[in-house]
Amino acid sequence: MIKVENLYKNYGKDIEVLKDINFTFEEGKTYAIIGSSGGGKSTFIRCLNMLESPSKGNIYFKDLNITSKNTDLNKVREKMGMVFQNFNLFEHMNVQNNITYALKKVKNMDKNQALEKATSLLQMVGLSHRALAYPHQLSGGEKQRVAIARALAMEPEVLLCDEPTSALDPEMTAEVLKVLKKLSDTGLTMIIVTHEMNFAKEVADYILYMDQGQIAECSAPEQFFANAKSESAQNFIKNML
Ligand SMILES: Nc1ncnc2c1ncn2[C@@H]1O[C@H](COP(=O)(O)OP(=O)(O)O)[C@@H](O)[C@H]1O
Ligand SMILES: [Mg+2]
Repeated sequence: MIKVENLYKNYGKDIEVLKDINFTFEEGKTYAIIGSSGGGKSTFIRCLNMLESPSKGNIYFKDLNITSKNTDLNKVREKMGMVFQNFNLFEHMNVQNNITYALKKVKNMDKNQALEKATSLLQMVGLSHRALAYPHQLSGGEKQRVAIARALAMEPEVLLCDEPTSALDPEMTAEVLKVLKKLSDTGLTMIIVTHEMNFAKEVADYILYMDQGQIAECSAPEQFFANAKSESAQNFIKNML
């Protein structure tokens, strides 16, 4: 579904953050990207929907080369939802409007239809009772669940999440992970950068271990956690568990 070919990302002349990444993400699978801080995880996931533009290489989303200059990235990003560590909600809009905004603006949905959609998404993330609250009135876990609902409103074909629970305490982390697990079970294609090893083990079809700008290992969770190939991955696991 997403094919990455010879992907490089440099900052300036000296900083090489991604080094010749080649990888294909399959439809319907959940991928957990893990690895030490500074390894390039955020840069990589942001390249996948061109929030960062690669220095070299190609990225295909369903056969469309999205690194090509002619690609309409807004159209592509409608199909690739993104959830960030810091939620990025529209602070001046209530929860409901955070979700309906793009439906009305981008999808030209009428008000009632958009509202209906927001209502069912809020129910799915367990926040029906918070529809009229403003982001500053929500806990971090609630904000992140709104952000997930907002991303899903566009009916993306893949959901990208960059450390969706890193800003949250354990209780809030659990409620967000529960929603992500539910989504994974529906067969949505998901790519999640995470430090939650138990979640990765339980939910991911594949673990991508990133190290120094490369995908050093890709394997099923059972295999990765029991039998990581590289010493670096073994040390990482030891430190995380
Ligand atoms: N805008 C930038 N300018 C220069 N260096 C950057 C920039 N963004 C990220 N980096 C560097 O790229 C490396 C990888 O960063 P990042 O992708 O955020 O890693 P991770 O998400 O795995 O912690 C780090 O060494 C970071 O300092
Ligand atoms: Mg990061």
